[in-house]
Amino acid sequence: MSSLKKTDPDVAAIIGREEERQQSTLSLIPSENFFSPAVREAVGSVMSHKYSEGNIGKRYYEGNEQVDELESLAIARAKEVFMLPADWEVNVQALSGSNANLAVYLALLKRDDMLMGMYLPDGGHLSHGWSFEPDPEIRSADVASGRMVYLGGSRKVNITSRMFKVVQYKTDPKTRIFNYNEIAKIAAEYKPRMLITGGTAYPRNIDYVRIKEIAKKVGAFYLADIAHEAGLVAAAVVPSPIGIADVVTMTTHKTLRAGRGAIIFSSAELMKKINRAILPGLQGGPHNHNLAGICVGLGEAAQPSFRRYAQTVVANAQRLAGELWKHDFELVAGGTDKHLVLIDLHTKPLLGRSFARALAAAGIVTNANSVPQEIRGPADPSGLRLGTPWVTTQGMGQPEMTKIAAWMNEVMAVAAQWSELPAAEFDDQLAQSPELKRIAMEVRVLCEKYPLPFTAEVRAEATSE
Ligand SMILES: Cc1ncc(COP(=O)(O)O)c(C=O)c1O
Repeated sequence: MSSLKKTDPDVAAIIGREEERQQSTLSLIPSENFFSPAVREAVGSVMSHKYSEGNIGKRYYEGNEQVDELESLAIARAKEVFMLPADWEVNVQALSGSNANLAVYLALLKRDDMLMGMYLPDGGHLSHGWSFEPDPEIRSADVASGRMVYLGGSRKVNITSRMFKVVQYKTDPKTRIFNYNEIAKIAAEYKPRMLITGGTAYPRNIDYVRIKEIAKKVGAFYLADIAHEAGLVAAAVVPSPIGIADVVTMTTHKTLRAGRGAIIFSSAELMKKINRAILPGLQGGPHNHNLAGICVGLGEAAQPSFRRYAQTVVANAQRLAGELWKHDFELVAGGTDKHLVLIDLHTKPLLGRSFARALAAAGIVTNANSVPQEIRGPADPSGLRLGTPWVTTQGMGQPEMTKIAAWMNEVMAVAAQWSELPAAEFDDQLAQSPELKRIAMEVRVLCEKYPLPFTAEVRAEATSE
């Protein structure tokens, strides 16, 4: 019996059930991955006990010899893995991707400066200046106008839209990919102090050189947020903005597979300001247990096997996209260059929320997502987002992607008959459906062929309850 089970059976049972869920279902959320036992051991270590406010060799508390060593090693590994130019520096202390972005703004902008980021329904992130327009008529009129610029909605839901003026660029309404001429025009008109690329649901590569030119022309800093693609950049399977953008931020827990946290890269000169923005500007003590995980994960990312992993992530996403296309699913931007696929469901009987619920009933875990030209609200959007980082870590390949697309098509066909039902009745039908139960069982059998490196003992205890 695990010691957690003895000391706190309630928490042990919750963790056991979560292990069981992760093992028995397909995780297709592109921002999720699972970490090696070595990363998890480091994250669960005594490093979490130590306060280390400050920077290497200059801490406010004593006893930081090991933390200094760990942070130096993490920085050295980050420099190697991301092939940093000699005059660039690294910060590994931001607690999350959103905090990393806030630190960059705090370091380089003044209040009410203009931020220019990507429009959230087209794939941008909340921390790039998002404000929502709650009035559906205003949203529809905006889409109907075909304009590629968004000046913000009345609900300033993110701190970044409260602190700064914001203008956002949309993708091209025809291609649903970046229209660089239009981005240049918007930048010329609004003269942002910071231009941002990157996001949560944009499936195509970004021309970082072109964006840097646009930013330079208007005197803006260029922040490339590669939270999603970090692992693919590390493995050089997609282009890198390092050395091109002024600042690069990333999360460590998605494609990079290095436990939770964030890394910031910039020239040594800008990094002096960014370090001060992290502390004392924004945070207290860094999370040294997460830093230990990041350090181990960076060590893993430096191995040749990681490059093969990243190549397979992309190949799997492309196969999944191709198979879904054969099943008549409409793909935003016509497919993918990386780890994620965005489906526009407006031609199908179920939209994002209900399709995601139906898939979950069949053991396929995804998330509903907005799509370009979205007029629906964020709680019930028109699209579905999928990603391959997790299932690729698990060892799945092309045949499994084909199978997943076929299951998704089947789930759509089964659940379509309940599309007009209110949500609670729709969920009841899903829960009772023998077809969905059968698919969930097939999914479970597939997943069992790819065991996750978890504590089988905890899982066994959870399932025997
Ligand atoms: C592009 C982008 N930036 C920032 C973040 C925020 O990261 P975190 O959830 O660690 O705050 C995310 C998270 O999904 C993201 O996709």
